[in-house]
Amino acid sequence: MKKNTAWATIRNLSIILAFASLGGTLLAQESKISSTLAPTPPMGWNSWNKFACNVSEDLIRQTADAMVKSGMKAAGYEYVVIDDCWQIARDKVGNIVADPQRFPSGIKSLADYIHSLGLKFGIYSDAGSQTCAGRPGSLGHEFQDAHQYAAWNVDYLKYDWCNTTTQDAPASYATIRQALDATGRPIVLSICEWGTHKPWLWGKDAGGNLWRTTGDIQDRWEGRIKWPNGDCCSNGMVDIVEMQNGLESYAGPGHWNDPDMLEVGNGGMTDTEYRSHFSLWAILAAPLIAGNDLRTMRSEIRDILTNQEVIAVDQDSLGSEGRRVQKNGDLEVWAKQMKDGGRAVVLFNRATTDREITVEWEDLGYPSHLEAAVRDLWQKKDLGKFTGKFSASVLPHGVVMITVNP
Ligand code: GLA
Repeated sequence: MKKNTAWATIRNLSIILAFASLGGTLLAQESKISSTLAPTPPMGWNSWNKFACNVSEDLIRQTADAMVKSGMKAAGYEYVVIDDCWQIARDKVGNIVADPQRFPSGIKSLADYIHSLGLKFGIYSDAGSQTCAGRPGSLGHEFQDAHQYAAWNVDYLKYDWCNTTTQDAPASYATIRQALDATGRPIVLSICEWGTHKPWLWGKDAGGNLWRTTGDIQDRWEGRIKWPNGDCCSNGMVDIVEMQNGLESYAGPGHWNDPDMLEVGNGGMTDTEYRSHFSLWAILAAPLIAGNDLRTMRSEIRDILTNQEVIAVDQDSLGSEGRRVQKNGDLEVWAKQMKDGGRAVVLFNRATTDREITVEWEDLGYPSHLEAAVRDLWQKKDLGKFTGKFSASVLPHGVVMITVNP
């Protein structure tokens, strides 16, 4: 009897110790800076899609001003990110040097200006020896660069994957996350290795807050085109959407699938197509990083980028990524669970003629006898109560985006 009691005590003690050490592990993870960042998909602007290497401090300042004046900041856009080509060399001791012609006042003063507007500042580098545009990469300079970014008050780093030869992707991204964390400054890490090594499987553990799932987007409806060097491929918007299907379970608060930056307003698609692009990014809980010229955008484009009801779907705090729940040729239904138990739904017409698309409640995980209120997020109008299903006529290459609330 006594023996049994002693064993029971030892067993109980070991259970307590096991829980204590599990608690310790969890605590260690929770205290990691990365897990406190990007509780909802990051929103902002990046220079690459419109300006490529043609970046300068004037452009970035004017864009930050336009972000405030256009209502983008009020709508939730926060990060102003300079992509490739801001950097030109390393100095004698290996510090990264900004192009003095294009950034004569230096990066710190630009970051300070952006912060003075209540916005946040992002920058770009690459895990390899050189960036994709041939500027110095961070390989071997990870801690030195992170230290420099923190000294400049950088809030966000997009970290690319060109010129990485035989590097291990998870290890390379974990190294830069360690370097960023060592500065003590909270810096969002945007992993950009184009989905090559399935970053959805390891991006969160490496400390990434978002990871590109595909090669680059280009400003066209669809069509994959090989790069001049024969590598595959630049993608149209619809090609990218197709590649998101099945990745939804990997996203959540603090760690997002990134189907690449927005092309809304860059001129290669119609406004209807841009509305589809924006709606699909929202249903995918994708980072909303605008890539157009904010200084000159038409009001129709501003209205797409600042539609608060569509943005609210993207930014829903549950952090559930939507998925395709129905496909019938060119007619698709995508749906996303919302924190309040409702659903956001995109009826997506990939065809070139008007089509009627129906969403059945059962596709949304609701019983067919349920009555639910439907609201159209582009018309900004309550459409009434519907039982079992909802149908709408959808423009060619268009969407109807609704919320369904039982
Ligand atoms: C890669 C990235 C792009 C952009 C360019 C810059 O192609 O995927 O988003 O950052 O490099 O050179």
